[in-house]
Amino acid sequence: MSSIFRKKSVEELTAHATPLRRTLHTVDLTFLGIGAIIGTGIFVLTGKGALTAGPALSLSFLIAAICCGFAGLCYAEFASIAPVAGSAYTYSYLAFGEVIAFIIGWDLILEYALGAATVSVGWSGYFVNLLTNMGIHIPTVLTAAAGTTVGVHTLFNLPAFLIVLVITWIISVGINQTKRVNDTMVVVKLAVIILFIVCTFWFVKPHNWTPFSPFGWYSFNHGTAAGIIPAASIVFFSFIGFDSVASSAEETVNPSKTLPRGILLSLLISTILYIIMTLIMTGVVKYTVFAKYLNAPILAVLHETGQTWLSIIVSIGAILGMTTVILVQLYGQSRITYSMSRDGLFPKFFGEVHERYRTPFKGTWFFGIVTALAGGFINLNILAELVNIGTLTAFILVSAGILWMRKSHPELHRGFRAPGVPVTPVIAIVFCLVLIAGLNWETWVRFAVWFLIGMVIYFVYGKKHSLMNEE
Ligand code: ALA
Repeated sequence: MSSIFRKKSVEELTAHATPLRRTLHTVDLTFLGIGAIIGTGIFVLTGKGALTAGPALSLSFLIAAICCGFAGLCYAEFASIAPVAGSAYTYSYLAFGEVIAFIIGWDLILEYALGAATVSVGWSGYFVNLLTNMGIHIPTVLTAAAGTTVGVHTLFNLPAFLIVLVITWIISVGINQTKRVNDTMVVVKLAVIILFIVCTFWFVKPHNWTPFSPFGWYSFNHGTAAGIIPAASIVFFSFIGFDSVASSAEETVNPSKTLPRGILLSLLISTILYIIMTLIMTGVVKYTVFAKYLNAPILAVLHETGQTWLSIIVSIGAILGMTTVILVQLYGQSRITYSMSRDGLFPKFFGEVHERYRTPFKGTWFFGIVTALAGGFINLNILAELVNIGTLTAFILVSAGILWMRKSHPELHRGFRAPGVPVTPVIAIVFCLVLIAGLNWETWVRFAVWFLIGMVIYFVYGKKHSLMNEE
């Protein structure tokens, strides 16, 4: 009887000759990271975040950043032990064994596929806004999922659906194209954010910051959770993505050094920009004003300052910024399913590498279409919270994995050692648990259902077809 806790060794993990091309360096990974990190979280969820925490939203961002920073150090150490495709999924194969690895892989699918769907909905909000400003109107029923806005009849989010399909095509035809498109858009995104900061900074009125924390750490406002922690649980989404850098290990040059650098640098740059941006946003307008701008809260600030010219530029930057997020998420997604299929836990179909493009072509398209449909039919907040709980669970397992690996495999070569172990992973785990507690119970239930479906797939398919059966 084969054990569901059978493990792989580092040698086994790194022995696979990789058919993917090694082309990525530290700068590319940092760009890939920023491309994945800055998106719907800052451009869209800050509206809901500001209503939930008030001006203390910047503290919520700080809490989420600390959580990701500590988890990021653990990710970086794992990435340097086993620099192969598959990220946290692969790491837990090493630390905990197959069934936990499957669970993590299944969580990462939630993170990347539904994450891309969430961002496509945020993208669509800014896109529809921009078109409307240019006098082009898409029929309202095709601008959002059913039941998204009270009193407005909507059925399907067509722009969200289409953008996912376009990006799926870009990814499916090869890494070099992906890198070029990503790099250009990241430069535009950073330029627009810096322009926003420089142009709006002067309009901050410090009295808007008082009271700084109208709902405290955790309280109830009209029956819903409010305060710094619940807002942190929402805006945690803004940091998701740095871990997808680790998924590109097999396409990276000298991964044990470049991966940790790429992860930490991209996280640091985004955190600094977020804190500055949220302080400015809640300083220029009273936080309650964001209730009218939930689809595009940045525009509230620009209307207040009368810089309409800037709102068009920022909208274009936000659209491009979110495009790169979808790009990296779908990229991470295709590499996770590629790894799981290579290990036999998913059907071969998902891992087949295209002869000419050298990409897992079919798997990329399969999940691209599923993601596009999710973006078309599901509401942004439901998606974002589900993605957050899946990612937080993956972070907990990665951090616990580092604790375990230091004890069980102290001899393994580590190109990067997370400082402060065991404190670092313990802090990461505590912060993740606090953020999970800040999410609402419907999200916990949805996540439990997702988890159960994964278990059925593992016991019905994965366990029987795992390559480890042969070994
Ligand atoms: N962190 C990414 C975003 O905010 C997922 O869009």
